[in-house]
Amino acid sequence: MSILVTGGAGYIGSHVVRLLLERGDQVIVADDISSGVVGRIGQAELVQLDLSSTDAVASLNAAFEKYSVDAVIHLAARKQVGESVLRPEFYFEQNIGGMVNLLTAMQQSKVSKIVFSSSAATYGMPDVVAVSEDLICQPINPYGQTKLIGEWMVANASRAWGLKHASLRYFNVAGAGWPDLADTAVMNLVPIVFKALAENRQPAVFGDDYPTPDGSCVRDYVHVLDLAEAHLAALDYLEREDRQSSVFNVGTGVGSSVFEVLAEIRRVSGIDFETSIEPRRAGDPPRLCADVSRIKKELGWEAKRGLAEIIETAWAARS
Ligand code: UFG
Repeated sequence: MSILVTGGAGYIGSHVVRLLLERGDQVIVADDISSGVVGRIGQAELVQLDLSSTDAVASLNAAFEKYSVDAVIHLAARKQVGESVLRPEFYFEQNIGGMVNLLTAMQQSKVSKIVFSSSAATYGMPDVVAVSEDLICQPINPYGQTKLIGEWMVANASRAWGLKHASLRYFNVAGAGWPDLADTAVMNLVPIVFKALAENRQPAVFGDDYPTPDGSCVRDYVHVLDLAEAHLAALDYLEREDRQSSVFNVGTGVGSSVFEVLAEIRRVSGIDFETSIEPRRAGDPPRLCADVSRIKKELGWEAKRGLAEIIETAWAARS
């Protein structure tokens, strides 16, 4: 198959690209290289492009035709929750505007399959042990809103012109499938802790008084290679006529607290560091874990790697 991967030079996208190349697909990466790294995409073709720009539709149509593209995996997006609160217009322009252009070009070029990168941020602050896809989504920041609207956009395109779609709601992604594809952004817990250790600072724990077993927030950490494999499973699913669902949680179903993640980092790094307990961070739900029964049943996918492998591979790949 010929697959166009938007955001394919990013941390998650490059894992998807490598798996597609390994299984023999032709891969075209559309990426503005604002945070992506060209060296990550291997033998894939690069179309350097900001999806929200005025010439994006024409550039995408040209790429669809040149490479006879069969399907799109759409990961390109801005993804910093805090920044989205400060710059909502930018997030809507980039994430929604980019998607308008992408879907317009797909319709014009008759590319009728898409796997969309959504997020557990669509749920907001659910007060349940494990969130299922049927829960009403109440995103609490513009980033999560753009992801939920993206899900609506592909569903609308499905009704209007027959787009086949699957949206993957990522939980907390970490780890590295290959050392050269490490998460180089310092935006999430694991890379933030690694940076603090490299600078001889104590990692911060945002709140130790949550109603959780050890008082720190619980998240569902999923290995980036498992997540990448879920994209291939979703792509294969779009070929099936008996599809039941279009939205899937991608997590492990297992929650880990901030203290548990830190303990694993102590074990793997061999560094016996102290932590500094800080006030709660605004907007953090105490617990966010996936109910993974749907993706297992319908896509036949489940995570194969746990917290130990996440931290071990992230540590081995750290820059
Ligand atoms: N945390 C700390 N100290 C830090 C950094 C984070 O204690 O220095 C805590 C946070 O408070 C949170 C947990 O570690 O409890 C994980 O925080 P991250 O910032 O790594 O991830 P989030 O769960 O806040 O957000 C992630 C993605 C978002 C996505 C969200 C939805 O980064 O893009 O999951 O599931 F929207």
